[in-house]
Amino acid sequence: MERRPLAGAAHGLYAPRHDDRGTHISARPLDAGTQGPPARPGDTGQEPALTAAAPPASRYLMAVEHTDWAKLPEGVRDAVARQLGMPYTAADAEDAANSGTAALLSLCDGRAVFVKGQRDRTPAAAPDGSVDDGTSWWGPDWSPVDELDLEQAVNPHLPSSAPRVLWRLHAHGWHLLAFEGLRGRVSEYTPGSTDLPLVAAALGELAACATPPLRLPTAWDRWGYYCDARDEDQLAGSRLLHTDPASTNVLICQGRARLVDWAWPSLGPGWADAALWGMRLISTGGHTPEQAWTWASQTPGWNEAPPQALRVFTRAEARRWQDLAADHVAGASPVAEAAHAWACFVASHTPAAAPVTLTD
Ligand SMILES: Nc1ncnc2c1ncn2[C@@H]1O[C@H](COP(=O)(O)OP(=O)(O)O)[C@@H](O)[C@H]1O
Ligand SMILES: [Mg+2]
Repeated sequence: MERRPLAGAAHGLYAPRHDDRGTHISARPLDAGTQGPPARPGDTGQEPALTAAAPPASRYLMAVEHTDWAKLPEGVRDAVARQLGMPYTAADAEDAANSGTAALLSLCDGRAVFVKGQRDRTPAAAPDGSVDDGTSWWGPDWSPVDELDLEQAVNPHLPSSAPRVLWRLHAHGWHLLAFEGLRGRVSEYTPGSTDLPLVAAALGELAACATPPLRLPTAWDRWGYYCDARDEDQLAGSRLLHTDPASTNVLICQGRARLVDWAWPSLGPGWADAALWGMRLISTGGHTPEQAWTWASQTPGWNEAPPQALRVFTRAEARRWQDLAADHVAGASPVAEAAHAWACFVASHTPAAAPVTLTD
């Protein structure tokens, strides 16, 4: 059975609207990545020994079309003004990757409110005819609105680095979620950046967070497809994970790193976010893998992470990006290269490492 996660998975990782450096790109074509079996280089066409549920079907690609704030129906903007109780000016978020709309609203009393939104659910049928086999955590009807629901549900359980949800609105076909607005800037991941200790501290704060009493996908739900079936234990864990510590999701504000964009919270091993951050330090910041390792090791739990688990996880992430690059997702190729370099470094840097390839 075809078990490959179809492009446009629920966690939106398959359809970024900006590349890894934050450059705006157009939405991915609807048919991208929806044809054919897995295309990992070296695949022999045999069924891989993978048992994890695949993420859901790809109609999601269609759903995350972005609308600038000014182009929202007037009734939506009026409803927001009523909710705020005063006029405001809106500045579209430049780095929105998966929101239907996202803007920082400046109120006339000086406050700021960040609002992200999604259109009403689209019909359940996938446009490409793809079928969810019912085993994925997300299920066949998952939509961007569910992501917004999850982001809202997890918010009270997040560490203080995360901006708080203020209110939720449903008006004229749009679901809007409002947060404490941060007047900050996107973090800088280059070597020597003074933001890096702040990011490490925010990840440290997250690592100390209690497990929220919510139904969340696990790391195995998210990455299991890219692992061998026997590796499930390696991704076990019940720590709260952000799972997308891209520089655009970490804002620097008043000398602090703030973790935003909790659309894809998951449960897993506590070191997983640091492993993902290490990859981003290479892909976005131009760190060497050695330098990235040094930063990852500043986060709690990194030095106790089981080497085999680190190898499995970084390899899974590299395979995922390799798939995206093979699907010609804009901006994915350089990230795939960085993820590969990181996985290879982790494999060679951790004790008892067997030679690893992305296709073994
Ligand atoms: N609370 C906030 N205050 C100010 N800006 C924010 C806030 N949250 C997010 N942003 C900015 O808006 C961008 C898009 O928001 P994000 O939650 O990341 O949505 P998406 O899922 O579209 O990536 C972020 O990259 C960040 O620059
Ligand atoms: Mg984001």
